[in-house]
This record gives sequence, structure tokens and C-alpha cells, in this order.
Amino acid sequence: MAGFILACETFAIVLLTSQLTNCLTAHGQERMGGNNNYPPLWDDVPDSLGEFDTIHNKTVINPWNYLERMGMYKTLLSVTAKYMSNFGPSNTGNVLWGLPLQHGWQFNTGRLADPSKVSSCGQKAGDPLCISTRSWWSCMNYYLATVPFLGAVEAGFFEDWPFEIKVLQPEEYMDNFCYTAADCRVLNPAMMATWTTFFQLLKITKEYSQMEILPMMSSEEDNIWHHLWMAHVVSIEAALPKCSERLTYISAPEAQFGVSWANAVEFIALTHFPTNFNQTNSFQVFLPQRMLLAGDQAPSIPDLSKEENRVLVGLDILYKGNQLTGGWLLKVWRRTMCSEKGRALGRNLLENAVANPDLISSGIYNLFVEFIKNHHCTTINI
Ligand SMILES: *[C@@H]1O[C@H](CO)[C@@H](O)[C@H](O)[C@H]1NC(C)=O
Ligand SMILES: *[C@@H]1O[C@H](CO)[C@@H](O)[C@H](O)[C@H]1NC(C)=O
Repeated sequence: MAGFILACETFAIVLLTSQLTNCLTAHGQERMGGNNNYPPLWDDVPDSLGEFDTIHNKTVINPWNYLERMGMYKTLLSVTAKYMSNFGPSNTGNVLWGLPLQHGWQFNTGRLADPSKVSSCGQKAGDPLCISTRSWWSCMNYYLATVPFLGAVEAGFFEDWPFEIKVLQPEEYMDNFCYTAADCRVLNPAMMATWTTFFQLLKITKEYSQMEILPMMSSEEDNIWHHLWMAHVVSIEAALPKCSERLTYISAPEAQFGVSWANAVEFIALTHFPTNFNQTNSFQVFLPQRMLLAGDQAPSIPDLSKEENRVLVGLDILYKGNQLTGGWLLKVWRRTMCSEKGRALGRNLLENAVANPDLISSGIYNLFVEFIKNHHCTTINI
């Protein structure tokens, strides 16, 4: 019986990793490195509170405008830079990069526009910078943009700013979102606490005056990734039920992609994957560069690349595999990733798959060994 279960587990891990890694192999190599892919309109995005409007002693942020929502990210990147200068040059190692780059991809691919097409919000010919409250992606991203920003406010990152910071409410779906740290705590106490803790942790992290790139992830850096990914996952779990109504505005394949992408993020989170500037840019070229339409069926969507098609199939298998087994796949992955060795192997597999597909099978074997060794891991670990 035990042998059978082990065999099944091995099979599942192989299936999972080979699908996910297959999709990253072909074009990965030439797209790795040499990235200069800042989010759209980056130079126009505010990078400090001083660049937002201050009216009647209140600094006003409108998260339903692309430049202003992105402005919260750019401001965060700027105020946290000094804590992460040894993770890479020119702030490219900042652990927050994954968030604005994903948001840029959402903007570029039309995912923030009004999917009900009732308004011209987000349409190139209409109001291109508008972020629609009806977009599932914009709703999910709110929990990964405004909420972290409020966490940083609460952790004291802007305590020298003389004005009150006011986040504008949208015109509809007001109770799906929160606008102050106190609001967000009411909406979801664990979520707010996790983000605030993450930013507090940064504040007690050593400031690095000179660059010193470490070849391996230090335990300090690992701890920062751990807290960031934990907050990321809590936000996604809080957002999913609040945003789900909006899935009806988008096509079935797009809705399936969205939900399975949110599921995959939980797996990626467990590896403490370093979604810094370069890594995120390398990976997100494989995400579909347009919204999926009703007739789209991966792996044979003609105008998407082979890799984009494979990613869609891989995400779908991962999602369904995890659903069908009642979350068992994630549990196996969680146990494998519960040691630093396991996480290093998990990250290595994802990274190497891009540059060196020959290493996939030995990578899976090593993961399996780690899974067996980690039998003592009973605590919930991200
Ligand atoms: C803004 O704050 C300053 C300093 O506290 C105060 O003198 C001024 O009256 C305030 N202005 C408004 C419009 O509330
Ligand atoms: C990102 O890529 C650039 C250009 O290749 C490189 O100089 C920089 O060190 C990389 N940053 C990180 C964090 O790896």
C-alpha cells in the first residue's frame, strides 16, 4: 500500500513538474537575461507621495487609475530599495518587482479594461488609463496593490509624510474592497497583519551601504521571501471570493486560466521563488499575451505561442489535479518544499528548465528524495 501511494505521488510530481517545465523550455534561453522590460508607461508613474495630488491636506490616491495604482508600487519599490540593495544592482533584486510587473502584464493584455464593454474604461480609444471595477484581474490585483501599500503605511514607511493618505473608493462594488489599514483589518484580519508584518520585517532588516551579491540565498533573504509569499497567498485567498462575481463577465477559458493561475501561485509561493525584476520578466512572457476568447482551446490556440499554449495546459492540469485529489497535490508539494534543500531544488527545477531541460528528470528525482526525507514536516509551512 505504501509503495503504491509513493508510486502515485512520484507520478503526480513528475506529471506536474514536467508539464510546468516543458512549457518553459523552448524560448526561455534567448529571453533570459538582458531584460529591460519595465511596466508600461513606467516613466509617467509617480514614485513618491509628493507626486500624487494633495488636496486640503490629504494626499489622494485613485487605485482605479493605472498610473496611480502603479504609483503605489513604484513608491514602495523606492522606499524599500535600501533594504534590498545587496539582492541585485539598481534595485533589480527588490522582492516586490513581481507585483508591478504582473500588473503591467495585466494592463498590456487588456485585462484591466471593462469586460462587460458597457463603458470605455480601459479601452485604448476610450479611457485607456482607467482600471475597471468589473475586471476580475483588477479586483484580484487590488488585494496585491492597495493592501500591501496600506501595510507599508501601517508599518510606518511614510510616518514622516505630513498629510493624511486617502485611497479613493470606486463607484461600484464598494464593499468588495478596503481603503484604510483599519478597513482592511475588518475585511480580513490575517491578510492585513501578514502584510504589515512583512513591511515591519523589512524595517528591521540591515541596510546595506555597499553592494555585496550573495551567490546563495541568505537566510535573511529567504525569510523576506517567505513573508512576502505568505502575504501574497493570503491576499489571493481573501480576494478570490470577493472577486468571483466578475468571472461571469469573461469567457470560460479566461476564467479558467485566471483561477488556475491563482492556484499555481500557491505552488510557486512554496518554493520562495525570487520574483525579482529579471526572473519575473523571464517567466511572464509565457503567460497569454491577450485575453482568452470563448472558442480558445489550449494547446491549439493559433495566435498564441507554443509556450503560452503549454502553460495554459500545465496550469489546467495542476488545478484539476489538485481539485480532484482534494488538495493532496499541494500537500505533497508543501512537504517537499518544507526544507530549504527542497525549496532550492524546486526553484532550481523551475529555473533550470528554462536553460537546461536535460536536468528535468534528475531534478524530479532529487525532489522525490527530498519529499521522502521531509516526513517530519507536519507544520504548515509556506
Ligand atoms: C493644512 O494644514 C496646515 C498645517 O496644519 C493648516 O495650517 C491648514 O489650515 C490646513 N489646510 C486645510 C485646507 O485644512
Ligand atoms: C538582472 O539582469 C541584469 C542584466 O543582465 C544584471 O546586471 C543584474 O545583476 C540582474 N539582477 C539580478 C537581481 O539578478
